[in-house]
Order: sequence, then structure tokens, then C-alpha cells
Amino acid sequence: NSNRPTTKIANVYRGTFIHSTQQTALQILEDELLGVDTDGKIAFIERGAELDRLSRTFGFSPTEVTQLAQHEFFMPGLVDTHIHAPQYSYIGTALDMPLLQWLNTYTFPMESHFKDLKFAHSVYSKVVKRTLRNGTTTACYFATIHTDASLLLGQIANDFGQRALVGKVCMDRNDSVKHYKETNQESQEETCRFIAELLNKKYPLVRPVVTPRFALYCTAALLGQLGTIAKDNNLHIQSHIGETVEDIKLVQELFPESESYTDVYLKHNLLTDKTVMAHGCYLSDEELVLFRKTGASLSHCPNSNISLCSGMLDVRNVLKHKVKLGLGTDVAGGYSASMLDAVRRTLDTSKVLTIQNPEYDTLNFEEVFRLATLGGSQALSLDGQTGNFEVGKDFDALRVNVAAPGGPIDLVQCKEPKILLEKFLNLGDDRNIVEVFVAGRKVVPFAEPTTE
Ligand code: GUN
Ligand code: FE
Repeated sequence: NSNRPTTKIANVYRGTFIHSTQQTALQILEDELLGVDTDGKIAFIERGAELDRLSRTFGFSPTEVTQLAQHEFFMPGLVDTHIHAPQYSYIGTALDMPLLQWLNTYTFPMESHFKDLKFAHSVYSKVVKRTLRNGTTTACYFATIHTDASLLLGQIANDFGQRALVGKVCMDRNDSVKHYKETNQESQEETCRFIAELLNKKYPLVRPVVTPRFALYCTAALLGQLGTIAKDNNLHIQSHIGETVEDIKLVQELFPESESYTDVYLKHNLLTDKTVMAHGCYLSDEELVLFRKTGASLSHCPNSNISLCSGMLDVRNVLKHKVKLGLGTDVAGGYSASMLDAVRRTLDTSKVLTIQNPEYDTLNFEEVFRLATLGGSQALSLDGQTGNFEVGKDFDALRVNVAAPGGPIDLVQCKEPKILLEKFLNLGDDRNIVEVFVAGRKVVPFAEPTTE
């Protein structure tokens, strides 16, 4: 290798690496060497036998290589494509109503408290720390309608080192809870201020996302304005779509000129290749074709879909339509802030669909692993930077010890990496996640902040 790279190597790891590629849901690399450069990017990933050559080429000492233990492996960080940070304040409760009633009774009154920055700071620090500890290296957050608290969420994600898309929520139509909505003008102006101020911070891993809450709580004027703002600034867009039978019916009544829920967003320039829509349980094949054509993606939130009795997404059909798809916790409609739970609920939902129709092509854990990692990064259009262990991407990774002392897994009979991964996905928790890296920086275990 004649052209000696100018990159400086910060860390080299040796052991088992498990990740997904476009071609294969599960690629297992045993006795592999992965080098991370000082910018946090993957400089090389090659067979262990190449150590001498690599150390000469990249100028590191073989004695500095970190060797993984027997029951350990690296996997890409988990990508939560849909989570409501403020709803962490009531996670694990209030799951006794259907969506629209749930929003009015619990969600809007609780979200209105985030006007208070001290309260916001406390909840947002907790949700960022919890998700990082659970292995979420990238999160796509909804905040609330409050611009300053939404900016604070961006700051906290940056401080703890999480890769994050952060949205100030927009909603200028809410007849049920009068004190939790904005005027059209406020929503527009504050969205622009949010975007400008967040971009101005120059946080390397945090970006703003244009966030109409969903068609039901936005006027057509606002949807159109937000579509323009996203287009003019080439920004991500997130919202909800086709979550329940009831919200679809109401959206049809509100937008009679639109052919479908998807058409409402399409008409307002909100369906782009940087759009991620949550749920989509009831999308027609025609709507999936619109997703495919525009490059928009779906976030599958199975815990929330079941907990609020909303519906069940047919993931196989979405994949057949070649629509990009990631997984989301949808806290607090979903009662778990762990993407491992999203993996399990995705498998459960697929098995329930199989019970209902034995011909159904059930998802396997390898496919769901890909959805939780590479699939999520594709859904968020971040797969140029993260999602698997390709040279040039940021090193976003979990160091997993399946047999972690004090952890939930007692018996590890077989050391085959595929079995270790399966055990971890089905049984593991944060005790098995020994270290978390985002862009090469070790973010878990983290130093506890002195004040909170
Ligand atoms: N639709 C509009 N807002 C919300 C929300 O906060 N959670 C869920 N699950 N669906 C929504
Ligand atoms: Fe949601």
C-alpha cells in the first residue's frame, strides 16, 4: 500500500463484528480488526491476520489494540427513528385510551409543562441518558411546541454525545386543549427561529427537523408553509401518518380534496427523500407507491401500535414495496425507551400476523436487526454516515457482552456469534451493553454531570 494515509488512528479493536449491509441482513466478521481515526471515522476493517501490514500502513502499535473478550462483539448503534422526548415524563403509564383521547387527556397537558425550562432540562437529560445507555446512538426526537426547550434538547443531546434529529413540534389546530397550540404565524416564525438557532450552534451531530405534529392538528396553510421551509433549507421532515382508523377518517373529512392521508402530505411538499413518517399501519398499496417514488420512509413503532390499540403494520408489505423503514420506540405511546424492545415487538407483531394468516412471510431476527440499525439510518437519510461498519462511516457502535456479570443472561451454551446476537436481542438489556460509541467517542459509561 504505497499511499500512506494521512489519517491518524485513535483506536483499534479486535474481535467479532456483526452488522448488516445492503446485500445481507447479517454479516459476521470474526477475528476482525477495526481502526477508528481521530475524527471518529472507521479507517479500516480487515481480517486479524493483516495486523502487521495495517499497523505499518496506518502507523499504530500492535500493542495498542483492544481485544474483545470471548462473549463480546461489536454491533452498530441502534437507531430510534421516532421518539417523543417530553413524553418520557410519563413513560410506562396512561395506556388505557385510544390515540386521540390519549393525546387530549395525557399528552397535551403534559407537553404544555415544557414551557418551563428547568422541568424540560430535567426530563430531557434523563431521556437522552436512558436512550444512550440502552444503545440508541441516533435518535429522531419530537420535542414540544416550545422553541427554547426544543433547543435545550438539542444542546443536551450534543453534551452527552448522541446523534440526534430534533424537531420543535408545530400545531396550529387544536380545539380540545386550548392552551396547547400556536397561531399559524407563531408556528411558522418559531420554526424558522428554531432552525436558525440550532444550526447556529454548530453541534456536529445534531440537526433540526421540520415537525408538523400531524395533519389533524395543522391547518393546510401551516402544512404548506412547513413544506416550503423544509425545501428551502433542505431539511428533514417528520410527522405521523395513518396511525389509527379514527385519525384517518378525520383527516379525510378535513382534507376532502386529497385522495389519501399520504396525498395530504404530498400536496404540501412534505413527502421528500428526507421525510420520516411514524406508524402508517393503514396505508394502502397506492400510498406505499407514493412513499417509494418520493423516497420518503416509515418508522415502525410496534409497542405504541399495540399499547394504544392503534393497529399492526405489515412490515413485509412495506419491504416488498421497497419503502425505507426503521424502528421507533414512540415513547410514551410505546412504554419502553429501549430499541431492544422495539426489536422484540416487531418480531411479536410479525408473528401475530402469522397466527392470523399462516401463509404470512414472518420476519426473522436477522432482518429486524438490520431494521434497527442500517434500516433506521437509511430511513433518516443518515446511511452515508452511520448504520454499519463501512470504511469512511462514523464509528457508532455497541460493545456487547452477552455474559455480562450481573446481567440477565445466565447461560451461554454456544459461542457462535449468530447465537450470541440472537440471545442479546431477545434477552439482553443495558447491562449487556458495556460501552457505547458515537462518532468514535465513548459516550457510555458517561461521567455523571455534577448538577442536574
Ligand atoms: N399523533 C400525533 N401526536 C402523537 C403522539 O404524540 N404520539 C403518537 N403515538 N401519535 C401521535
Ligand atoms: Fe409518535
